[in-house]
Amino acid sequence: MRDKWSSKLGFILAAAGSAVGLGNLWKFPYEAGSNGGSAFVLLYFIFLILIGIPLMLAALTLGRKTKKSVFGAYQSVDQRFSFVGALGVIGSFFLLAFYSAVGGWVLYYLKEALLNAFTTTNPDVLGLKFSELLNSPLELIMYQGFFMVLTTVIVLRGISAGIEKVSKIMMPALFIMIVIIAIRNLTLPGSFEGVKFLFAFDVSKINLDVIMNALGQVFFSLSIGIGTLVTYGSYLDKDDDLLSSSIIIPSIDTGIALLAGLATLPAVFAFGFEPTGGPGLMFITLPAVFASMPFGYLFSVIFFFLVFFAALTSSISMLEIPVSYFIDEKNTRRLPTTIVLAIVIMLLGIPAALSIGPTEAWKSFAVIGSINIFDVYDQFTSNVLLPTGGFLLSIFVGHVLGTDQAIEEIESSGVTFRLKGIWSILIQYIVPAFVGLIMLNSYYELLL
Ligand code: PFF
Repeated sequence: MRDKWSSKLGFILAAAGSAVGLGNLWKFPYEAGSNGGSAFVLLYFIFLILIGIPLMLAALTLGRKTKKSVFGAYQSVDQRFSFVGALGVIGSFFLLAFYSAVGGWVLYYLKEALLNAFTTTNPDVLGLKFSELLNSPLELIMYQGFFMVLTTVIVLRGISAGIEKVSKIMMPALFIMIVIIAIRNLTLPGSFEGVKFLFAFDVSKINLDVIMNALGQVFFSLSIGIGTLVTYGSYLDKDDDLLSSSIIIPSIDTGIALLAGLATLPAVFAFGFEPTGGPGLMFITLPAVFASMPFGYLFSVIFFFLVFFAALTSSISMLEIPVSYFIDEKNTRRLPTTIVLAIVIMLLGIPAALSIGPTEAWKSFAVIGSINIFDVYDQFTSNVLLPTGGFLLSIFVGHVLGTDQAIEEIESSGVTFRLKGIWSILIQYIVPAFVGLIMLNSYYELLL
């Protein structure tokens, strides 16, 4: 029999676990900070409500209606659209390949935090430490491999006994930890500057790039466009309420993203560091911040545990996409399928992990064109695949499956879908038009 979630709460925590990840803890604070503060946050909210939530509902509905992995879900409704499912399955390989590289760094930093290795407050020294890691192939492969082993061990136990069980422990723990860190941050003298940085309203900063970044962040953060939600939705029972899930999951995700902003930027400002973005913020600036803080050891350990939990509950959802495809479509068994797929993804991931080392030797080893393999995977999945997948999902549910059938599926659990008229218009016209434009723009930028 096909596995399924053992409780509604378990499903919500697992789906929120997929959504809450490095995108919230690592990307959101920086993106908000550098894209006009609350102007970005405001755009994020608008896209979340008009595009993210309607698409999340569409994905969960498609999954539950068909009870199939992402490929089978599209195929069973209309053969001609199987390619959308295939894109999701293929995309999940590349997504996890680079995500696990960062997961490996997180594990390394967790070990360093536990060993009390962040004793210097000098970001230059810590920057050197980070680039040393990026230039140690053996260590990179080892930690990425360890992260993949943990991901595999959970996924091979299945939905209820693996993914759901782990999410039920890790998600509440994650929430408690992030609240502790945010309170510590906000009670530091001078921390208000960080809050201002995050929320200062600067409309002049809104331009096409900011709009694209905010929309991209909605897709990445909600795990939309690649099949995770279709897959997770396929393990739902007919009497589970899809409407409330599509509100609760994005609310948890956004709440954690905002908390992540409050758990990082205030302390960065309080101790006078530069709010640099990307890897720098989490792996260089924050260790310096913890070293400056009373009881910094304790907070650094909590922080990296938190990031590790967030990354792991996301990576398992990425691996579940191809695993469920092979089990459903090729009748393979979960145990060998999970192991073989994890090995293939790891092999794809190693060049990505090795490609960002700043030394020339590694650069020439792993560069396609002028960008390294890590960025190729990242940009291909985040900028191309997720918006394209979201666009095709809206066209599919809006016009191929049809909103009437989707609404019937949503209401089959006994709820009345009061906003069905608005949702139908959004999913049929507004979402595809807007996401389509953004998608074309990102193709154009990629080709330039
Ligand atoms: N939502 C995850 C994050 O914010 O880190 C990333 C992610 C997970 C994207 C699963 C896509 C996905 F299918």
